[in-house]
Amino acid sequence: MAILVTGGAGYIGSHTCVELLNAGKEVVVLDNFCNSKPEAIAKIEQVAGRRVVLYESDLLDRKAVTSVFRENKIEAVIHFAGLKAVGESVEIPLKYYHNNLTGTIILLEAMAHFNCKKLVFSSSATVYGLSDNVPFRETHPLSATNPYGRTKLMLEEIMRDTYVSDNEWSFALLRYFNPIGAHKSGLLGEEPNGVPNNLLPFVAQVAAGKLPYLSVYGGDYDTKDGTGVRDYLHVVDLAIGHLNAFDYVLDNKGAEAFNLGTGRGYSVLEIVKAIERASGVTVPYKISARRAGDIPVCYADPAKAKKVLGWEATRDIDEMCEDSWRFTKQNSGI
Ligand code: NAD
Ligand code: WQD
Repeated sequence: MAILVTGGAGYIGSHTCVELLNAGKEVVVLDNFCNSKPEAIAKIEQVAGRRVVLYESDLLDRKAVTSVFRENKIEAVIHFAGLKAVGESVEIPLKYYHNNLTGTIILLEAMAHFNCKKLVFSSSATVYGLSDNVPFRETHPLSATNPYGRTKLMLEEIMRDTYVSDNEWSFALLRYFNPIGAHKSGLLGEEPNGVPNNLLPFVAQVAAGKLPYLSVYGGDYDTKDGTGVRDYLHVVDLAIGHLNAFDYVLDNKGAEAFNLGTGRGYSVLEIVKAIERASGVTVPYKISARRAGDIPVCYADPAKAKKVLGWEATRDIDEMCEDSWRFTKQNSGI
């Protein structure tokens, strides 16, 4: 039996494939490489010392998705594939709705057809919307502030409805907080196209001298130092959480949400300092205006994941920033 990993060549997917292979699982990846490269697959195999079965296919291609299930015995699916850029989702919402919603519906239909009804889904802390009622628990009211977030919200609801209609299904809805860091080998990490939107790749590129300075979005929030606070977690901790969630969907039925975060918040300036410690380089920054749609503080209550999945993050902020820095350094030619 194998595990199908959609989006397995991407940032979180590639780290998860490594952990699955290390745990002895058979892995089938479906990815169209719209936000990743085929080389990621070779790197996964190099790091883990084992092979994956690759389908270079689009989730929107129903025939291709069906072939994956026909040609492999798929026990469960870990579903990462989706578009994730918040700003882009505001500019081209229909592309986001089509890719994320239609792609997932095609996947669920194929799964139902082949009687494979266990799915681990990449949701996001973005489903907690603009609230500042931290720490966020899974029972917190849900809302979305942009089309990307709405796709996550709608997909969670589609999965809950699918379970209600057929109690054989099992869904783990994993709400990730802010994944950062990279694999220790320096081979796998986050490689955004163009100028990064997210804090970590941006700060690391400033430290590497690829970008002149960091704009800190807001210095007057009601936080410890006035800058935004987030729950950063190591991508390897996050990847391992998917193994726990995989075991959970094998043994349980339902549609359950789980926060995957550390439960600790760090400010933008604390991240700048951690990258400075890791790199030995001073990171120039300027406090600028707040970014539209940002909340001051966001961190998880991860108690449910610990209690039910037996998962908790173990890597600290220095390890996250050291690993991010190693990856940036090795991959930026400095
Ligand atoms: P990523 O872009 O690195 O990986 C996504 C992968 O899916 C890419 O390899 C891409 O080529 C593939 N893909 C996209 N659409 C596809 C399609 N139609 N058919 C086949 N392949 C397709 O993103 P990531 O950071 O690894 O995120 C993985 C998942 O986790 C996404 O669903 C994302 O929304 C979610 N998520 C990410 C974060 C984050 O901060 N990185 C936070 C919360 C949730
Ligand atoms: C972190 C902090 C910024 C860049 C996003 C998505 C969310 C989820 C994770 C997928 C904030 C500040 C950032 C910069 C800065 N993705 N910042 N200067 O916004 O918490 O979450 O990624 O589901 O949906 O919205 O992450 O890394 O963009 O920002 O000051 O150049 O860094 O204001 O306080 P965010 P981020």
